[in-house]
Amino acid sequence: KQTIESIDVANKRVFVRVDFNVPLKEGVITDDTRIRATLPTINYLMEKGAKIILASHLGRPKGERKPEFTLKPCAQRLSELLGKPVAFADDCVGEVARKAVETLEAGDVLLLENLRYHKEEEKNGEEFAKALASLAEVGVNDAFGVSHRAHASVEGITKFLPMVAGYLLEKEIKYVGGAVEHPEHPFAAIIGGAKVSDKIEVISNLLPKVEVLIIGGGMANTFIAAKGYPTGSSLVETDKIELAASLIKKASETNTNLLLPTDFVVADAFSNEANHKVVSADGIEDGWMALDIGPASQKAFAEALKPMKMIVWNGPMGVFEMDNFAAGTNAVAKAVAEANATTIVGGGDSVAAIEKSGLANRISHISTGGGASLEYLEGKALPGIVALADK
Ligand code: 3PG
Repeated sequence: KQTIESIDVANKRVFVRVDFNVPLKEGVITDDTRIRATLPTINYLMEKGAKIILASHLGRPKGERKPEFTLKPCAQRLSELLGKPVAFADDCVGEVARKAVETLEAGDVLLLENLRYHKEEEKNGEEFAKALASLAEVGVNDAFGVSHRAHASVEGITKFLPMVAGYLLEKEIKYVGGAVEHPEHPFAAIIGGAKVSDKIEVISNLLPKVEVLIIGGGMANTFIAAKGYPTGSSLVETDKIELAASLIKKASETNTNLLLPTDFVVADAFSNEANHKVVSADGIEDGWMALDIGPASQKAFAEALKPMKMIVWNGPMGVFEMDNFAAGTNAVAKAVAEANATTIVGGGDSVAAIEKSGLANRISHISTGGGASLEYLEGKALPGIVALADK
């Protein structure tokens, strides 16, 4: 795929699709990671004297101009990060957008209002895609987080405006795509989170590629049930027990080291204040539920990760938002950060856990994608990446 360095951007109007879908609380951005992640691309374009037109969605306003979904706070935050003014246009197409674009000088930055204020964005409407394309002379996709969506600004637009990959998208392709397509070995995947059903395709796709597969979090309970152990009142997806059993079988047939928790921290209620204790994986009693992996599992997982050359981690090991059940997730965060390997962390919860652990700077790549990184790990082709101009 072509990258921004392969095109001439000087004095050109450049449409840049970014993913500024950031969390907001009463109009204040609570995490600006996604904005900061696009700075390399924006700085490069500024240095080269491009006229930069940024476009993004925010939330799911479903085609309505709902004020709580305005991108204005993102323009302000970006301006603080760049140390220069960022212009804002109240609409992403039409006269308003065109006039705002006309005033741009080389190196200027403009942010357009929420693309999803137009329902044609999600419908991948051709006229809308054409209207967006007409604003610019070249296009850049730096919105990995939304590249799994065949939306007008991501996919449709490329029929009218060739798009190349920005630095962030290039990095996501290199690391997340690299793990799926040409991993370094030995390769380990750590999959956690509440439900097996959310991660089945990720597990099925990665199972034949990894030497070590670690399963933790709520979804481990379904595997424990598949082994015939009691699960007390733990969350178990009964309709997925058979599937879990078949994955255990497949792992043994392919000599994949499938590691399930050997002990759990169990509680008598789903609350940080609940009574809790450590039990072995075959010892969950009635009335108790597994809310974290236990210390023996933490140790075994960390040991198994030590010799790895590549590690992908998606999903927490327990209910880490409750302090009493965060130790397993923190231990895995530490083991991943300390591994002498290419390490890739994806998925909102594991990213939050790694940030909280203070070890984020020791991870090779923290993905900015939620759904997008999951679909990538499932082995799916992402429409926004497929649509990029080839070399
Ligand atoms: C995300 O937050 O995962 C992306 O910005 C995509 O948002 P969406 O799920 O609303 O399409």
